[in-house]
Amino acid sequence: MTSSITIKAPSSTANLGPGFDVFGLAIDAFYDKVTLTKTKSGITIITDDNIPTNPENNTAGLVVKNMKKRFKIKNGIEIKIKKGVPAGFGMGSSAASAAAAAVAFDKLFSLKLDGNSLVEFAGFGEKASAGSVHYDNVAASVLGGFVIVKTNPLEVIRIEPPTNLRMCIAVPSIKVPKKKTKVSRGVIPKKINLTDSVLNISNASAIVAGFMRKDSELIGNSIKDVIVEPARQHLIPGFAKVKQNALKSGALGVTISGAGPSVIAFSKSSANLKKISQAMSRGFASKKIKCQTIICKPSKGAADKRK
Ligand code: HSE
Repeated sequence: MTSSITIKAPSSTANLGPGFDVFGLAIDAFYDKVTLTKTKSGITIITDDNIPTNPENNTAGLVVKNMKKRFKIKNGIEIKIKKGVPAGFGMGSSAASAAAAAVAFDKLFSLKLDGNSLVEFAGFGEKASAGSVHYDNVAASVLGGFVIVKTNPLEVIRIEPPTNLRMCIAVPSIKVPKKKTKVSRGVIPKKINLTDSVLNISNASAIVAGFMRKDSELIGNSIKDVIVEPARQHLIPGFAKVKQNALKSGALGVTISGAGPSVIAFSKSSANLKKISQAMSRGFASKKIKCQTIICKPSKGAADKRK
């Protein structure tokens, strides 16, 4: 009988501009590793990283707690977490640990859950860090590729991204508030006007068509959000310049990665990705902010069996 399982889950970017809380894309920039081991009793968390070790406040801990209860598992469980996805930058860090924990739990106890159920359980972890459940990052991290999240009831649609899609991400070295996602969700308007809604729906639809047709240009050109990005951009000093620089250097579309503060540019593999990344760095430098840049591509997910 298996007593220990290790699962790797990728970083992810949520929203992709107009798809707020609906679109997610798994990206191969960083990975979290979670090892679940059966023990006699209780839930313990072991980690060298600076994250909560109380299961109630830990995204992976919450997932394990909920799954243990739901499936009436008597064993205790030790959760070993190795963070790879930097926390607080809009790259689905909490989601990656939650996704890895859900998939590992499923395998450890041979539950054979389907994708939607795995995403639903992984979502318990997100609630802890964001204050409300949203499944865009966890769905991408569990299933890989591009995902569309339908809610009530939860149904995740996965589309394999085009092979030439590339992203340049600029991660600024700025202090982020403790409950960053909660704070950045708090600045979004509660009501929107019809014209803005029409614009965002048209771009979101075109992004889906772009993934279906494997057309990176259509995806990139449609990364345009007139609702959430304008409301949040003041939280990212230098955002307008970073975006402008990336577009001038050949990026197809630029937006905030998830709740930020990372900025993500969408391109094709044939573009000069180094030039785009450097241009984004210069944008942050104009506000005296250092940043790390990462060139990445879509990733498979934690539950993906394909090599
Ligand atoms: N869709 C979410 C948001 C992702 O933008 O608030 C954050 O994790």
